[in-house]
Amino acid sequence: MMNFDNYLENYFLRFPQSKIADAMLYAAKGGKHFRPELIFAVVKGFGIDEALAYDAALALEMVHSYSLIHDDLPCMDNDDYRRGKLTVHKAFGEDIAILTGDALLTHAFGVIADSSYSLEVKNKLVSELANLAGLNGMIYGQLLDISYDQEDHIDAATLDKIQDYKTGALFKMALYSGMYIASDLNNQAFYDALALKIGRIFQIQDDLFDIIKSQEETGKSASDVKNNKATSTTLYSIEEVEKQLASMFNDTYRLLDTASFNTEYLRLIIKRMEER
Ligand code: IPE
Ligand code: IPE
Ligand code: MG
Ligand code: MG
Ligand code: MG
Repeated sequence: MMNFDNYLENYFLRFPQSKIADAMLYAAKGGKHFRPELIFAVVKGFGIDEALAYDAALALEMVHSYSLIHDDLPCMDNDDYRRGKLTVHKAFGEDIAILTGDALLTHAFGVIADSSYSLEVKNKLVSELANLAGLNGMIYGQLLDISYDQEDHIDAATLDKIQDYKTGALFKMALYSGMYIASDLNNQAFYDALALKIGRIFQIQDDLFDIIKSQEETGKSASDVKNNKATSTTLYSIEEVEKQLASMFNDTYRLLDTASFNTEYLRLIIKRMEER
């Protein structure tokens, strides 16, 4: 069986050669794969082969990649670099970038529909992906994100809300995907709580790295600072943010102690997050 990277690349070979097929692969490749890795970690915790989660992971990574293409557009964050390369609109043009995002989002649902999951699992994955990527999730978070800037002096609760929707929602989709594939439907509260922690940690780190790391290290142009975005680093000092992160990592490890399955794989991912 091929690894997930090859599986992802291979998927795009089915499309006729076109600018958009090229841009889809360009956009979908090269990410850190934290969301797919979370799905794999959950299913492996139940003794299930991670390859059985590849279609759910591919669909989610496609939605994630589309969200980044549109997030980088001039009318949104206006970024020129991502993953150490030009953003999709810089490399292919804005028109192609918009259509490429649309294509990734559309085909993500096709990946689930065409998978070999049971009808019940497919139904849950499609329904929850629509929910968490759409206006009950990531899109609502992006709406909140563009609705506030530093001058609005947002409070901690508002910041949490932005993070929970724009970032936490797709992490929740990752954990739910594992939960559905493993048929662990009675412990939803555990996955909810974990997604909330990981989503916040991830976005706070992302905002912190824009300030404390170089563009060479992050691979992206830190637009949120120049766009006056309200983030953790505008609300708190760097020392405060680092303290919050340390305590949130602690909470996360303690939460993992309450899981009903083997969390050694999840722990490795949280460790990887802590060390990034
Ligand atoms: C970037 O996500 C967007 C945020 C939610 C901060 P990632 O940092 O997971 O992006 P890639 O896929 O690894 O490039
Ligand atoms: C999250 O926020 C992005 C999405 C939900 C698409 P950012 O705007 O901070 O993500 P980056 O820093 O551009 O990757
Ligand atoms: Mg943004
Ligand atoms: Mg951005
Ligand atoms: Mg960012």
